[in-house]
Amino acid sequence: MNVMRKKPISAFEKDIQKNELKRVLGKWALTSLGIGAIIGTGIFVLTGVAAHEHAGPALTISFIIAGLGCLFAALAYSEFASILPVEGSAYAYSYGTVGELFAWLIGWNLILEYAMGSATVAVGWSAYLNKLLHLWGLHIPEWLCNDPGTILGQIKEGKLKAENFSFLGNIPIAFNLPAFLIIWIITGILVRGISESAKTNNLMVAIKLGAVLFVIIAGASYINTENWTPFIPDRFIDEKGVGHYGWQGIMTAAGIVFFAYIGFDAVSTQAGEAKNPVRDVPFAIISSLFICTLLYILVVLVITGMVSYKNIDVKAPIATAFGDKGLSFAVYIITIAAVAGLTSVLLVMLLSQTRIFLGMAKDGLLPYKIFGYVHPTFKTPARSTLLVGGTVSIISALTPINNLAEMTSIGTLLAFAMISGAVWMLRIKEPNLHRPFKVPALPLVASLGVIFNVAMMISLKQNTWIRLIVWVAIGLLIYFLYSYKNSRLNENKQS
Ligand code: ALA
Repeated sequence: MNVMRKKPISAFEKDIQKNELKRVLGKWALTSLGIGAIIGTGIFVLTGVAAHEHAGPALTISFIIAGLGCLFAALAYSEFASILPVEGSAYAYSYGTVGELFAWLIGWNLILEYAMGSATVAVGWSAYLNKLLHLWGLHIPEWLCNDPGTILGQIKEGKLKAENFSFLGNIPIAFNLPAFLIIWIITGILVRGISESAKTNNLMVAIKLGAVLFVIIAGASYINTENWTPFIPDRFIDEKGVGHYGWQGIMTAAGIVFFAYIGFDAVSTQAGEAKNPVRDVPFAIISSLFICTLLYILVVLVITGMVSYKNIDVKAPIATAFGDKGLSFAVYIITIAAVAGLTSVLLVMLLSQTRIFLGMAKDGLLPYKIFGYVHPTFKTPARSTLLVGGTVSIISALTPINNLAEMTSIGTLLAFAMISGAVWMLRIKEPNLHRPFKVPALPLVASLGVIFNVAMMISLKQNTWIRLIVWVAIGLLIYFLYSYKNSRLNENKQS
């Protein structure tokens, strides 16, 4: 058994020639896809709890730490993308360089990033849609816009009454219908085709960027610098034994807001549809991450300057900061933009998941008939898109957002740490490979990539770690029972 076997570079070249997808994406379209995937639930929702509970005004530092972890990984991604301009992202890169099992494990964790990430964002989308409907005086019943776990939790906390719900045993009957439906709408768009998807995405990105710039410019005049002092509030432990603020709080907040950056790597899954992947994919990865980091830092400075961290809203921090200043029109703008913004995140994340599966199916590690099938007219992996959409829609309708978000982050952080290590390993093993883009200051940058991402993993909850271990164990089982045997690297399967 040889689990460290590698896919030969010549096989990648064949794949590139066989590419059935349409090459329609230029460097700014790719950058737009990156921004489309990045700005979403993280900045619109998670900043609230991160500032209020963990970091205070120093949330800016948390964003810088999480951004640096991503930058190191982004550089590694860019070097790989320039060597192997194929779809499949970190999975494909490590298959050509480190070995099959390592690649499989990265691919397996990318499912947490993209599929679980999509489910997380769908739940956030549903919450914002609800907020928008409330602004218009419309209400969806609680049981039809929440998952059973969330309803049960709110009944236990006394926020909802048990008599208003039907039960199946001890479990309240509830289904997050908006989350379910939005996933199906996006799935429909994705089955139709990438160029339509890119156009839809550009529109959403424009709305979202407009709103973010509005927050920065309009909010700047409401900054009260006293809200920034103390910049790092003193650490204290509350009566439940939970710690807040100080440097430890900054790290916890970094682990939470890391979610806000997830998505820049989605660009690397689109190489099969890029006009000039060698040059444009690295450009788009780094530029989309850079633009979003800058915007995030400014937004966080503005919000923590407008409102004291003690009073920051944890559900819709940005919209509420403006509402508290009496700017109700701003609440409309931000809420509508958030709904549009989260839609584009969903679009890119679901798209990316199917492209990774496509890469894995071509290599024989997943069933080709399902994940490799490309629709003859639409030129999209239609079956895989429907299967992913169907599964994610059900998960998003039935699972609480916190569990989904943490699973997404831990899986992604692990993949980022692995890819940072892999770029260094490849430099040692294959020093002469042609690298149009090179990570600067190696091994320092690669080591920092591993250290930053692992440090953020450590700041996540124990339960999340247990789930990750179970997830990886299931992945290993599938690898040894199916993928190893069906891999195209088995001699009799090589074409
Ligand atoms: N970065 C994306 C978001 O914050 C996943 O929604």
